[in-house]
Amino acid sequence: MEKVGNGSSGKAPQAVKDRARQLVDELARHNYLYHTLDTPEISDEEYDALFAELLDIEENWPELRAQDSPTRRIGGSLLDGLEKKRHQRRMYGLDNVFSPEEWLAFLERMERAWDDRGQGRMKTDFWCDPKLDGLAMEMSYANGVLTQALTRGDGETGEIVTEAARTIRNLPLSLRGQGPFPAYLEVRGEVVIFKEDFAALNSLRQQNGERLFANPRNAAAGAMRQLDISVTRSRPLRFMAYSLGVVDWGAMAACETQSSAMAMLEAFGFATPPQGRLCHGSGAVEEYVEWARLRRSGFPMEIDGVVAKLDSLAGQELLGFTARAPRFAVAFKFPAIQAETVLKEIEVQVGRTGALTPVAILEPVPVGGVMVSRATLHNEDEIKALDLRVGDTVRVQRAGDVIPEITGMLPDKRPADSKPYEFPKTCPACGQPVHREPDESVWRCDNLACPARRLRSMLHFVSKSGLDIQGLGEKWIEQLVAAGVASSPADLFRLTVPELLKFERMGEKLAAKFVAALDEAKTRVTLPKLIGALGIRHVGAETARVLAENFNDLDELAAADTERLMAIKDIGPEVAAAIRFFFETPANLAVLEHLRSEGVWPVRGEALRKASGPLAGKSMLFTGTLTQARPVMQQMAAKAGAIIKNSFGKGLDYLVAGENPGSKLEKAQKNNIPVLDEKQFLELLADSGINISESES
Ligand code: IVH
Repeated sequence: MEKVGNGSSGKAPQAVKDRARQLVDELARHNYLYHTLDTPEISDEEYDALFAELLDIEENWPELRAQDSPTRRIGGSLLDGLEKKRHQRRMYGLDNVFSPEEWLAFLERMERAWDDRGQGRMKTDFWCDPKLDGLAMEMSYANGVLTQALTRGDGETGEIVTEAARTIRNLPLSLRGQGPFPAYLEVRGEVVIFKEDFAALNSLRQQNGERLFANPRNAAAGAMRQLDISVTRSRPLRFMAYSLGVVDWGAMAACETQSSAMAMLEAFGFATPPQGRLCHGSGAVEEYVEWARLRRSGFPMEIDGVVAKLDSLAGQELLGFTARAPRFAVAFKFPAIQAETVLKEIEVQVGRTGALTPVAILEPVPVGGVMVSRATLHNEDEIKALDLRVGDTVRVQRAGDVIPEITGMLPDKRPADSKPYEFPKTCPACGQPVHREPDESVWRCDNLACPARRLRSMLHFVSKSGLDIQGLGEKWIEQLVAAGVASSPADLFRLTVPELLKFERMGEKLAAKFVAALDEAKTRVTLPKLIGALGIRHVGAETARVLAENFNDLDELAAADTERLMAIKDIGPEVAAAIRFFFETPANLAVLEHLRSEGVWPVRGEALRKASGPLAGKSMLFTGTLTQARPVMQQMAAKAGAIIKNSFGKGLDYLVAGENPGSKLEKAQKNNIPVLDEKQFLELLADSGINISESES
C-alpha cells in the first residue's frame, strides 16, 4: 500500500535518488550483519535512524521505493486470500533411509540408474547437510531482487506468500555483493524457527493465555500462510537455503556442483543449513550422519536427519527423478524419537515402598527403532497436567535408553465419549485405602502385608541393586510368592530342592542351582549390600555404603536414633526419618530376625573387625552430657570399631558417662560394668588412632 507523495512534486533530484539507493544498500548490509552473521556494526538506534530517513524519502517520492527496500519488510497489510501458482520446476519430496543398509541399497539403485545412462563411473561425492524440520519454500530473484515467494504446496503448485516472506529478517531482499547475478534465480530452502526463539514464543503465548504451538514447524507454517502480515512479522522466522530451482545464469558462470552452489548462496547473503559438508564416498556420508545424530540436540533448530545430495549438478540432471523423488538425493533420517499412538489403559502399579505409579498401556508403536507399548506417567498430577484420558491419541517420546514418556495428547483426536481419569482411592493389589501426604505427589498403600509391596521388596532383594542372586528372576519370585512358599526375603534362604521341585518347569538341576546361589549369597553378602537390599526408602547403594561405614551391623543401625543418623555426613532428615520408619515397623523387624536366624548377618568390613585398638568390638552405651554432641561421640566410637548400644543388654563392655548421668550410672555400677568418663573415653579413642577434632559434623 504505497502512499501518494504529498510534500514534494515532480521528479526526485539525483542526490535524493542516490541517497535512497545508498540507504537501501546500507540497511541491507546491517540487516545481514545482524540477522545472518550475528555481528552487528551499529546500534539498533542508528539502524532505526537510517530506516526512518529512508521511510521519509519514500513518503515524499513513492516512485523511489525500490523492490528490495527494507521498508517492504514491515508488512502490515491484510490479504484477501492466497493466490496459487505452479512451480516452474516441481518441488519433489525426498525418499527416506533409516539405516546404513538402506543407505547402501539406495546408493546401489543410484549407481545402477547411473550405469543405465552410460556415462562411465559415478563419482560418489555427496554434499550432506542437516535435514531441517520446517516449511519448504521457493524464493525467486530477478536480476538479484526478490520478486516472489512460493510455498511448496503439493510440490506442483504452491501459494504466493511474497509479502509474508519479506518479513523474514534473514532473507535477502536483494542478493548481496556486486554481482554478476543470475538473470533469474530460484532459491529453495526451509523456513524454520530456532528452538530458543520457539521457547520464548510459546512462553509469551502462555502469558497471554493463547494456545501453545505443538512444535516450531507448525508455528512456522502457520506464520507463512497468514493473511495478516503483521502476525507473520511477529514470529521469529528464518530462511535457510539448501538448493536451486530454475536458474538463468545470464552473465554468470554456472555452478557445477552442489557444494559450489551452497558457497554461492552464502555469498549472496543466504543462511544455509549449519555444518554442511562435502563427503567423499559412502562411508564418509555414514560418518557424517552419525556425527550429526550425536549432536542433534546441539543444533539451534529442530533437525530430523541428514540430506545427502550427489555433488555434481550435471550428475543430478542425468539421474533425474522418479514419480516421487530425486534419484540423486536421499533423506537419511534419524530414528524417530517421537511417535503417536493410542492410550489403551492406565495401569497402577504398587512399588515396594507402597507408592502407586500409573503406567500408560499403549497401542504398540515403533519409537527410535524399538517397539513401545508402555510409558511411565510418574503420578496423578502428571496425568492431570497432560489432561490424559483412556482412548486419547498421545505423543510418546524416547531418548536413548530412557524409559518412554508421554509428552502430550492430541485434543482433536479425543473420542467424544471419553471420561476424565479417576485415580484409584484403594490399592489395586490389596484393596486397602491409599493416602497421599499434602506436600507429596504420590499416593501410597501403607499396608505392609500388601502382596504387591511384598513382591516388589522380594524382587529388589534379589536384584542387582540387592543381593544379586543369579537366575532368580521376576518370574520365579512371582510364583514363589503366589504359592505362599516365600513371603519375605528371609524365606528364600529356607528353600529346599524338594520344595522347589513342586513348581512347574522346575527341574532338579535348576532347583539345585537356586539353592546353591542362595547359599553362596548368604556367605558372600556384605553389610552395605544387605542394607541396600532391604529396600529402605531413600537408601540406595551409595547411602547404604555410607551407613555400613558407620555401623557395625544391622542391630546397631536399627538402634541409631535420628540424631545419631543425622550426625553422619550425607544423611539428612528425610533419609534419617525413612531409616527410623523402617526399623520401627514391626513387620520389618520380623524380617530382620529371620535373616539373623538364617545366618544372613554380615558385620562391618574385615579390616575394622580386626581393628586392634582398645575399642574394637567393644559394646558401648552413652549417658549424660558430653562436651560434644552425643551422636558425634558415638560416631567416633563406631569408627574405632565399637558397637554402639542404646540400652543395657547382656555383656555391655562400657558405659560412657558425661555430666548428670542419671540412673544408667547406678545400674552400671550395680552390674559391675566399667564406666568411662569423657576424658578416659577420649584417651581410648586416641589410642585407637581417632582424633575427635576430625569429626565430620
Ligand atoms: S534438498 C531435490 N536439503 O525435506 C532435493 N531438503 O522430505 C531438494 N528439507 O521438501 C531437497 N532440509 O523441504 C534438502 N537440507 C535439506 C533439507 C531439505 C529439509 C526438506 C525439503 C523437502 C523435504 C523432503
